[in-house]
Order: sequence, then structure tokens, then C-alpha cells
Amino acid sequence: MSDGHIALAGLGHRFDNGLVALREVDLAVAPGEFVSIVGPSGCGKSTILRILAGVLAPSAGQVSIDGVDVRGRPGSAAYMAQKDLLLPWRRAIDNAVLGSELDRTDEAAARERALAWFERFGLAGFERAWPHELSGGMRQRLALLRTFLFRRDVLLLDEPFGALDAITRQDMVTWLAEVWAADRRTALLVTHDVEEALLLSDRVEVMSGRPGTIIDSVAVPLERPRPAELVTEPEFVALRARILRSLRSGHALAH
Ligand SMILES: Nc1ncnc2c1ncn2[C@@H]1O[C@H](COP(=O)(O)OP(=O)(O)O)[C@@H](O)[C@H]1O
Ligand SMILES: [Mg+2]
Repeated sequence: MSDGHIALAGLGHRFDNGLVALREVDLAVAPGEFVSIVGPSGCGKSTILRILAGVLAPSAGQVSIDGVDVRGRPGSAAYMAQKDLLLPWRRAIDNAVLGSELDRTDEAAARERALAWFERFGLAGFERAWPHELSGGMRQRLALLRTFLFRRDVLLLDEPFGALDAITRQDMVTWLAEVWAADRRTALLVTHDVEEALLLSDRVEVMSGRPGTIIDSVAVPLERPRPAELVTEPEFVALRARILRSLRSGHALAH
């Protein structure tokens, strides 16, 4: 895909109760780029994704996808919210096609396309399962599958593995890198896990404490695929150290 350009300029947000969540956020993501945002809890990471998803209007600045202002236009990007929003009363396949329903695409075709993806997402055989019958990892994969099936050039992923244990997480990171590489859509991932960010991204953006702004931007020139063992390599260790240093200085700034 050739589109999927994200642009944020001078982005700021103050909630109705007066809390200032973001100030002067500038960020551009090129088509096909994978960028992660890391930052302390409460610094406004989810707020940025909600603004890009068009479900929250920022109080200052510009926000666009492929040059189009997304304010008040939900659905410009495929968005996975921090809390997985599977509908408990719908079977796995019916959850997976929710996005296509919003697009009013041909239902039979959408279901057929979705079924073909179940295997790729490690969910073969669970097409008709209820969400409560799935493990935590499977539920996260189903929420991701639904996001991937929503045909948009931009993927917004808010801590997609947040609720998983360390081992499952590691498998999921390797696996996400693979599915993403298959069609390389623009991806903006929020995570609090620096290793996860480095294993997945072309670039890692570091935010300060609230009100959040970007205080460091770190290119990740590591070849893909990136096996989990990479985390002990000197180049990886140096990148991680730089990001942790920035996180610490951003924390100090805010206090
Ligand atoms: N609707 C809201 N009204 C007021 N404050 C909010 C609202 N949503 C989030 N916040 C606050 O804004 C700050 C940023 O939130 P969020 O973007 O969720 O942070 P992060 O995802 O980085 O942990 C937090 O202090 C949070 O409590
Ligand atoms: Mg969040």
C-alpha cells in the first residue's frame, strides 16, 4: 500500500475538567513505516491514538491522515483500543467482521476473507467460539485480527499485548512482526515495553510525563526479521539504554 501518511503538528489536548494531557506533539509517520510511542503511564499515549482514530477532537493543533483532517471522522484508521473491545455476545467470526460491517461491504465476502485469516492469526478451529472460551492471548489476537481486517492504510495499536504474561508476549511480538511484514501498512504502536518497541519498529518516539510531548526520536536500524535473541546484542542494548535514559530524563522534567 502506498498511502497511510500520518501527520501531527502542534497537537495539544486539554480535557473538559482542565487536565492538560498533551502539549506541542509533532509527529510524522511515512507510508509503510512502523513507529512506536513509549512513555510513562498517563502521559497521553492513548489520547494521541484516540485523536488519530477520530474519536476525540484535540483542543489544539493539526491531525491528518493522507492529508485529510480526521477530526470528527472516526474510521479513517484501523484502531485497536487499549481495552480489547470484543463483544461477548458475538462469536469469534462475528467479532472479526465488525469493521467490514461498518464499511457495509458484502457480508458473505467479508466472512470468507475473515475465515481465511483465522489460521494466520493462530485461531483456526475457533471461528465459532465465544470470546469467553478463548485464552487471553487468543482474545488479543482476535482483536488484532479484527483490526487488520478493517481495510485501512493506517494501523493504530494501543498496548495490544498489555494484559499478557511475558512469555506469551514475546511470542506475540514475533508473530505481529510477521503479519505486519506481509503487507507493511503504516503502524503506530503504543507500548510501555521498550524491548517490544525495538523489536517491532523502524523508529521509537519517547514521551515525557504529563503533559506529554515527544522528547526523543530514536531510529532503529536493525535488520528484519528480528529474533528475540537480539535483545542481548550490543547494538540492541545500546538503543535500549538510550531510550531508558530519555524516559528517565522526561520523568524528571515532569516532577
Ligand atoms: N476523558 C478524560 N477526562 C479527563 N482526563 C482524562 C480523560 N481521559 C484520560 N484522561 C487523563 O489524561 C491523561 C492521559 O491519559 P492517557 O492518554 O490514557 O495516558 P496513557 O495512555 O499514556 O497512559 C491521564 O492523566 C488520564 O487520567
Ligand atoms: Mg494508555
